[in-house]
Amino acid sequence: MQRPSNRSYSLRGDRMTRAQSLAMDQHWSNYSISVESVLDFEQIFINKEKVIVEIGSGMGEATAQIAQSAPQFGYLAVEMHKPGLAALLLLIIEKQLSNIKLIREDAIYLLDNFILDNSIDGIHLLFPDPWPKNRQHKRRIVQREFVEMVAKKLTPNGFIHIATDWQPYADWIKNHFTANSAFSGGVVDRPDWRVLSKFEGQGLKKGHQVTDFRYVKR
Ligand SMILES: C[S@@+](CC[C@H](N)C(=O)[O-])C[C@H]1O[C@@H](n2cnc3c(N)ncnc32)[C@H](O)[C@@H]1O
Repeated sequence: MQRPSNRSYSLRGDRMTRAQSLAMDQHWSNYSISVESVLDFEQIFINKEKVIVEIGSGMGEATAQIAQSAPQFGYLAVEMHKPGLAALLLLIIEKQLSNIKLIREDAIYLLDNFILDNSIDGIHLLFPDPWPKNRQHKRRIVQREFVEMVAKKLTPNGFIHIATDWQPYADWIKNHFTANSAFSGGVVDRPDWRVLSKFEGQGLKKGHQVTDFRYVKR
């Protein structure tokens, strides 16, 4: 599969702060994976109980805290935005985390081409871009094909946790996952592990209500 022509992310430029640039120069090679062949999670996350993939880690605030609170799990952060990955790299260094790896790639392309079926224990999709206008809906990452691919890549009993602060997108997510018989689940309470990101804070300030979903592969 080629990279999707309908990008689910915005191109926001690569301008970084000095600290972010330095972190990229000094540490990117130690914490990132350059994807050339199918990923071998046994080798990437040695002795970790589970592999969790975060799609669209943004500035990484939530990712770093989640990974810090569960050192027994390996976290793979997949993001296209370079300054966001650099910000997460700074947090990894500051908190001395050894259970996160970073990939700069389109998560759909990565999942489809470089991740084995039945190999991911969990996926976090926190505040995916809502693409609110009708003509933009095709850019939403949650589509029928995405749900089918998630079903293939998760282990049996694997889960996907999704949070959104955009009610029409919450309805869309619910409809798409309910339509796929590989999944059970639905709306859940906000889990303790999901810390507040800057993006979520902005939504809350605007009065948006946040919905959390957890779907489990049957
Ligand atoms: C609205 S932000 C939310 C960021 C973060 N999860 C949070 O809660 O603050 C969505 C992020 O997903 C990333 N993204 C969207 N589609 C993606 C894709 N196909 N592959 C990788 N990253 C993607 C965007 O670049 C953006 O940083």
